Amino acid sequence: MPDTQDYNQHNTIQTVPLALGDRSYDILVGTGLLDIVGEYITPLLKQPRVFIVTEKRVFEHQGNRLKAALESANIDAEWFTLEAGEATKSFEQYQSLACNLLEAGIERSDTILAFGGGVIGDLAGFAASSLLRGINFIQIPTTLLAQVDSSVGGKTGINTPFGKNLIGAFYQPKRVIIDTTTLNTLPLRELQAGYAEVVKYGLIDDPAFFTWLEENYGAVMSEQQDHNTRELRIEAITHCCRAKARIVAADEREKGQRALLNLGHTFGHALEAECGYDGTILHGEAVAIGMIQALETSMRLGTASTKNRDRVVKHFKKIGMKTSASEINRPLDAEALLQHMFKDKKVEAGKIGFILGDIGSATMQYGVDLDIIRSVLHDSIHAPR
Ligand code: NAD
Ligand code: GLY
Repeated sequence: MPDTQDYNQHNTIQTVPLALGDRSYDILVGTGLLDIVGEYITPLLKQPRVFIVTEKRVFEHQGNRLKAALESANIDAEWFTLEAGEATKSFEQYQSLACNLLEAGIERSDTILAFGGGVIGDLAGFAASSLLRGINFIQIPTTLLAQVDSSVGGKTGINTPFGKNLIGAFYQPKRVIIDTTTLNTLPLRELQAGYAEVVKYGLIDDPAFFTWLEENYGAVMSEQQDHNTRELRIEAITHCCRAKARIVAADEREKGQRALLNLGHTFGHALEAECGYDGTILHGEAVAIGMIQALETSMRLGTASTKNRDRVVKHFKKIGMKTSASEINRPLDAEALLQHMFKDKKVEAGKIGFILGDIGSATMQYGVDLDIIRSVLHDSIHAPR
């Protein structure tokens, strides 16, 4: 791996502003930012110390870089290193983290650093929103999914036995610092899962971005990063952050267009719930299958073309991503999946809200014929692998 200086001399650093009045903040995207993170966080600190929430796997792969950077910037750090995995986004872990932060003497003028993927960002953000009625926090996302989606926009929360993310708060970070070199240690399966959220931005309202991804996905996903592929990865992640920043600035509380970011999620959350959040299926994998199921539904409703459905399936397959429920290693039942969808946050007056449409033209639709949904689910469960 080249040293930090090499990264920063030759690679671009992008700044994406997220405009929310006095809660506005910047999202920085570049290579090697983790090694000089003091430069980016010191101006935001009211005292030279941080409370870092992370998890064991992230600490193992990237912890020393953050540790060294904070030491060289003379910033004291208290570390809270949790177990890796979705189960960490729980009531129990929230309670234990909150008590540990209080026991360590965290003050209102302190800052929490969320250092990890979406699990840590959501949990640490929720702790920041609720401790002492609100403590500043900074996101340092380390997965592709977190870099293009979960670290931006202020959705924080934990899971409950009744479903995912049902307890939480909208609480914006003070800055998001994205070092794309942290992805160098991310397992391929996690990179593929995060890629689903990248494609999502093309499918919602940006067909040109989907075409760009068809041409440049190899560089974005490449495990061997040279100067050119690093630049293309920065470009893709920055593009996603700009899209998300635009949507969040227009609709922070999800009264309208922000709901489109849930493309594939109604179908995907049902798969995750049915599999019990045990790692059988990752969030991004469920979203990828869910986006194909949404396209299939749209096709059967006459609002998407077969050609475009096939285009997206082909693109996912090239990357090695799952495209149908039959690829999940578990027997599934269409009716059980449909029942999970009735617990979705978008259900209104007993009707499920589906995000549907063709490549680049997603809209929210209520009152979709549930027999069409049943048949799409059935066919996905029984699709040839
Ligand atoms: P994650 O945080 O569990 O990380 C995935 C895996 O990668 C874990 O095993 C982790 O240990 C490992 N990992 C993380 N960074 C690494 C690195 N640099 N090197 C090696 N291993 C690394 O999962 P995720 O996919 O990042 O996030 C999923 C979560 O995000 C879900 O809980 C989902 O609900 C949530 N989410 C939230 C939002 C939001 O807007 N707040 C949006 C999308 C998803
Ligand atoms: N990930 C969906 C949102 O932030 O709204």
